[in-house]
Amino acid sequence: MIATAAHSDTCLNTTAPGYFGFIPAGGLFAAAVADFTADVFNRYTGLKETAPALVQLEKKLLSWLGGSFGYDPSRPGGVFTSGGSLATFTAIVAARNMRLRRHNRNITKLVGHASAQAHHSVKDAFRLAGLPAKNLREIAPDQSGRMRLDDLRKRIWWDQLLGLEPFVVVATAGTTNMGAIDPLPMIASICEQRRLWLHVDAAYGGTFILCPEGKTLLEGISRPIRSLSTRTRASSCLMAPVVFCSRGPI
Ligand SMILES: Cc1ncc(COP(=O)(O)O)c(C=O)c1O
Repeated sequence: MIATAAHSDTCLNTTAPGYFGFIPAGGLFAAAVADFTADVFNRYTGLKETAPALVQLEKKLLSWLGGSFGYDPSRPGGVFTSGGSLATFTAIVAARNMRLRRHNRNITKLVGHASAQAHHSVKDAFRLAGLPAKNLREIAPDQSGRMRLDDLRKRIWWDQLLGLEPFVVVATAGTTNMGAIDPLPMIASICEQRRLWLHVDAAYGGTFILCPEGKTLLEGISRPIRSLSTRTRASSCLMAPVVFCSRGPI
């Protein structure tokens, strides 16, 4: 522990009071203790039979988080994942499986759409899900870094014309580069019309839902369309160690 502490002095200190340089935020003492406690007790929480109270704790937290986003808190769902990339991967696999199950189509024909400003983990998720990376279309952003709706509509239309099958749109609520929030209500409408899965990568901006100003900015994030998943990253704004939550009909 002493050796680790010595080496940490040579690292970028994201917990320093004046640090605003990049998305990773510092951690609260209480959050560190919670992590430590979980590691020390180290119970198996994969099944409710093996750790009923702890599984209930997780469910409650998911339900609170989901409720904060406007999902029905009486129907908690979702999973915590170890990172943002894994959360997006989970959503892409869920969307892919849903599409293949319903239509039994050729996987190489499935295409997805995300802003050119989306995090690179979206491309990684595509590859990991067995989809060709080229099948992820990059939608042009506007000057504020928000996904352009005209380009999105055009690309979906064009892909359908080519005989391909659009199945998912990944919107971002807080881009890594500019903090831009894609026009969520309009994107949700497009997805609804075209029967596409909408995944919102809210790794950065998601937790702003907890304040009134953020709630306004994130309007539309939980619009009840057929298939929607949202993920938020507790480490960015809740000052918790890195952990992610996905919510959706997985
Ligand atoms: C918008 C956004 N999405 C996804 C990620 C990926 O998160 P992770 O590095 O935990 O996989 C980040 C990381 O900064 C991000 O800013």
